[in-house]
Amino acid sequence: MMDRNIDEIIRQLTLEEKASLCSGLDRWRTKPIPRMGIPSITMSDGPHGLRVIDPDTNSPTPHPATCFPPAVNLASSWNRELLHRVGIALGEESQAESVGVLLGPGINIKRTPLGGRNFEFFSEDPYLSAALATEYITGVQSQGVGTSLKHFAANNQEWRRLSVDVIADEQTLQEIYLSAFDRVVHTAKPWTVMCSYNRVNGTYASENSWLLTDILRDAWEYPGVVVSDWEAVDERDHALAAGLDLEMPASGGIGDQKIVDALRRHEISEDVLNESVKRLLTLIFRIQSLSKPSYHFDAASHHQLARDAAAEGITLLKNDQQALPLSPNMRIAIIGALAQTPQIQGGGSARVNPMQVDNPLEALSKLVADTGEIAYEPGYDLKSAQPNPEMIARAASQARMSDAAVIFAGLTEGMESESYDRSTMDLPAAHGALIRAVAQTKTKTIVVLSNGSPVTMPWIADVAAVIETHLGGEAVGSAIASILLGDENPSGKLAETYPLALEQNPSYLNYPGHDNEMLYREGLYVGYRYYDAKQISPLFPFGFGLSYTTFRYCAINADRTELSGDETLTIGVTIKNTGRVAGKEVVQLYVAPPGTHSFRPIRELKGFEKVALAPGQKSTMTFALKRSDFSYYRTAKQDWHVEPGLYEIQVGSSSRDILLTTPIHILAAEPEWHPPFTRNSLIGDVLTHPAAASKALTYLAKFPVKGAGNQTLADLVQQSRVPTRPLRSLLYRGAAFTRSSLEELLALLNA
Ligand code: GLC
Repeated sequence: MMDRNIDEIIRQLTLEEKASLCSGLDRWRTKPIPRMGIPSITMSDGPHGLRVIDPDTNSPTPHPATCFPPAVNLASSWNRELLHRVGIALGEESQAESVGVLLGPGINIKRTPLGGRNFEFFSEDPYLSAALATEYITGVQSQGVGTSLKHFAANNQEWRRLSVDVIADEQTLQEIYLSAFDRVVHTAKPWTVMCSYNRVNGTYASENSWLLTDILRDAWEYPGVVVSDWEAVDERDHALAAGLDLEMPASGGIGDQKIVDALRRHEISEDVLNESVKRLLTLIFRIQSLSKPSYHFDAASHHQLARDAAAEGITLLKNDQQALPLSPNMRIAIIGALAQTPQIQGGGSARVNPMQVDNPLEALSKLVADTGEIAYEPGYDLKSAQPNPEMIARAASQARMSDAAVIFAGLTEGMESESYDRSTMDLPAAHGALIRAVAQTKTKTIVVLSNGSPVTMPWIADVAAVIETHLGGEAVGSAIASILLGDENPSGKLAETYPLALEQNPSYLNYPGHDNEMLYREGLYVGYRYYDAKQISPLFPFGFGLSYTTFRYCAINADRTELSGDETLTIGVTIKNTGRVAGKEVVQLYVAPPGTHSFRPIRELKGFEKVALAPGQKSTMTFALKRSDFSYYRTAKQDWHVEPGLYEIQVGSSSRDILLTTPIHILAAEPEWHPPFTRNSLIGDVLTHPAAASKALTYLAKFPVKGAGNQTLADLVQQSRVPTRPLRSLLYRGAAFTRSSLEELLALLNA
């Protein structure tokens, strides 16, 4: 639809009709206005697979769809191209179900390992989250289907999420909790953004004009639709005024009436409503024009993609004495009910009704059928966390008779979900007891984990290998079987730090909140930004993941040694596969600022590349950095700021395994900035800004110091006998230095 048609349509709509467009028809659809040719469009969850619920029957069982790996596994792939392919497939399935907007991806930062929806989000790091979400979104939208970048903002735990007030300072919000949204809004242009349930610094996100208008619309110039999370709207008219276009689901006319009443009372101008309606109609007509009725997709190829994706995200955490891969002619004890009933996703609105589920036991049995032997023992009851001694005993005896014991352990159904957080980082007691008992048999023990967020591993010293499937979607069973037997080489890297214990985590002292407030007192020190700054050794660091082969980081080179303006810094990195099997490595690039500025992480991820290498093969990859990659958010300036100084580019295999470095000198480029000087600014602060210092000394040279012969105030200041005193203290020291002199000086300094 051309813009002029939409403007024309808006002119012909009544106030009630316009207000009616600003909320849903029902749980999943927007309202049609047939007389104006405005269709209804359907929105549907979820981020890792379609959850289409029949709006007429509202049956609790969604339509079957491919259950791709949840974000926790996809993110651990660090594979942009893969995310794009998954996005395309999700777009295809959305078209086949006539879904106009797919309600994902979720990019909230993982602040606490207890977060109930950590499985559904990407990472503790905004750069990684943004890079992968961008590919996901462009993939989905390439199929003519919209996405909904969610949840804007600071929905980082489920604790009291529909009421809690998240209180965080602006630098923390900008650098950690808004930063991924900022990048993605600009790089991927999601057709919609979904606001979160919670309040941010006192005001619900759904009616937070700082978030929805000042930041999203004015600063980031986002042109798309802002949709509420489901039932996240408190006062619909306040939400409209703040920048919320669409209240979901239907509010039974209550929200619409509030809009009409507020306009009738002239509390909101009709222009605000018209702008919202224009964004909504642009989205609706765009979806209508791109819809592909009776579209069919190839379910088998989507299942294969789900399998390939799961394999890319599976992360090898421990592999002593090359315990893995196993040989197909071994006798292998497969232990753990999760081997037969894999946990492929978490609970809540993202839950998919999978087309088919591969279970690891079957997949492994197939792979060793001709040459080896598989013995299976459930080892624990999926429905109970309590150890079952008989089941453990049977498992241990099978292990004794085997060449290797592979234990499938993890967080079982209901342990991680939307709406509630975990109360502990521990695995179910039955799983821990089983692992210890099997390890004590001295049979080589491998633990295969399935969990959407970090767990404690007190037994880790007792086992030979640990491999993390995260939550791997419907095809994880065949993916893990192939990796365990060496048909594929694991290449995942952790996108969330695994602390040794919850107490190590930076949010520990500030989670949960109290009195309905959640204070982010750890500030921007989230995840590796905290552990690295505090030199705390977690169980497994951010970016960590092993391989069946080895890589050598051979060389790094930069095309310049300094950045003085908007030039691009190009970094070349060469690595080599020094092992005997092909493998993939994720080369990570971090920027380490000079240690001068206090409130900054000691390194931040600013680039990564995943590369596949045959044995002996070398590859050189390049990273491009801009000045903005060296900036931090300076609250006093209300803007990003680049501090001149000597930075270090750090390249490695994890945030704690830096293998190559090169320096880069960032020269001052923008005019020197300082907060406006006032009568209470310290003299020392004036002197630290060369331009301000020379103005002050020139001006103060005119004023002799009282009773000190021919010494002037400039001499006094230069002898730095007064740096910690405010400018107003010069009133007591300078002859004829009056209030108007001070005002004159301030005007000079702030010019
Ligand atoms: C839920 C979730 C959101 C989902 C929406 C629709 O409460 O927070 O992610 O898309 O409501 O189910």
